[in-house]
Amino acid sequence: MSFHSMWTELLPVGRSSVSGGYRRFAWTAADAECRAWFEEQARARGLTHEVDRNGNQWAWLGDPAAGDAVVTGSHLDSVPDGGAFDGPLGVVSAFAALDELRGRGVRFTRPVGIVNFGDEEGARFGLACVGSRLTAGQLTAEQAHRLTDGDGISLPRAMEAAGHDPEAIGPDPERLARIGAFVELHVEQGRALDELGHAVGVASAVWPHGRWRFDFRGEANHAGTTRLTDRHDPMLPYAETVLAARREAERAGAVATFGKVAVEPNGVNAIPSLVRGWLDARATDQDVLDTVVGGIEQAARKGADGHGVALDVVRESCTPVAEFDHALRDDLVRILARGDGPDVPVLGTGAGHDAGILSARIPTAMLFVRNPTGVSHSPAESADEDDCLAGVRALADVLEGLACR
Ligand code: GLV
Ligand code: MN
Ligand code: MN
Ligand code: MN
Repeated sequence: MSFHSMWTELLPVGRSSVSGGYRRFAWTAADAECRAWFEEQARARGLTHEVDRNGNQWAWLGDPAAGDAVVTGSHLDSVPDGGAFDGPLGVVSAFAALDELRGRGVRFTRPVGIVNFGDEEGARFGLACVGSRLTAGQLTAEQAHRLTDGDGISLPRAMEAAGHDPEAIGPDPERLARIGAFVELHVEQGRALDELGHAVGVASAVWPHGRWRFDFRGEANHAGTTRLTDRHDPMLPYAETVLAARREAERAGAVATFGKVAVEPNGVNAIPSLVRGWLDARATDQDVLDTVVGGIEQAARKGADGHGVALDVVRESCTPVAEFDHALRDDLVRILARGDGPDVPVLGTGAGHDAGILSARIPTAMLFVRNPTGVSHSPAESADEDDCLAGVRALADVLEGLACR
């Protein structure tokens, strides 16, 4: 099956007819459809399909028990109203690259795996890269069991409803020990490749990043009859905090975003009792990130005090910088340079990836495919088909360099 026909088949799954964006959240019906598609691709190619204890899907050519396997792949879930490329491009390209290698008639000297990591975006349960974090031992089963979605459904309940045993989840060091290299192909989530005039590049590192929940608790009251001086309105310090996030990020050369907010009781004519905002902050360096978040928290406390509002700040996750394996990265650059010329772009990124999580355990690298607008986590995310095919060829070259004779 060609790249184009795989892509077209996957395209309608979980797409909103209103926004045109994707809602492929972990352990939902749309996720199940994506997973069925993955299994079908594996079976159609005679690959061995398995679901691991954490719900990640694997398709194997050769026996992974032989060890030193080369694995590629990405994720199929999405953010709310996400684009078509973030995740799926890496999975579809993995199958297409394998087809290309078989077409080239190469002989595989190492087992080759294709993976679909579960719940990369964390759109439903609030924590990104759940599948890879569990496998790498960066998230314990106990912590995962405590995750809940916006409707109060726990992760174990959602897993169970989707037919996966939540009691099985946990670290999987034996599985990781069999993998000699993991290479994730991903759409670029910025404009660097476009500016440099390259279809494909190599990743250097994932910036440190994290999520913090800010709970501002005030007092619900009537919007028409409560004097301004009598109010404890949590929306005011929240608004000040959003502005502080922008200011602190600008000052430090970092990024900080409040992209999700919940308001109670959420009535037009009521002063809120609670404003809960989630901060996503990222920087090239951990010290800079700590300074930015510290500055935002300080501004939030000052605002809360000034308006007679209580504040709790909870760090929901913080992922340290992930440097990709230097030797593997150099291999990728060398392999790409053969087809694409000597100046292969090597880029850092502010986006989180399963490859970043795994880089703490196994040699890991990433390929980026040009995104002409740089837009991502939006229905407007795009990549030209020619560039996608260049990505497939690059991935095939990399797999050939690593796993074939
Ligand atoms: C996931 O894509 C993230 O970087 O938030
Ligand atoms: Mn993403
Ligand atoms: Mn992604
Ligand atoms: Mn991501």
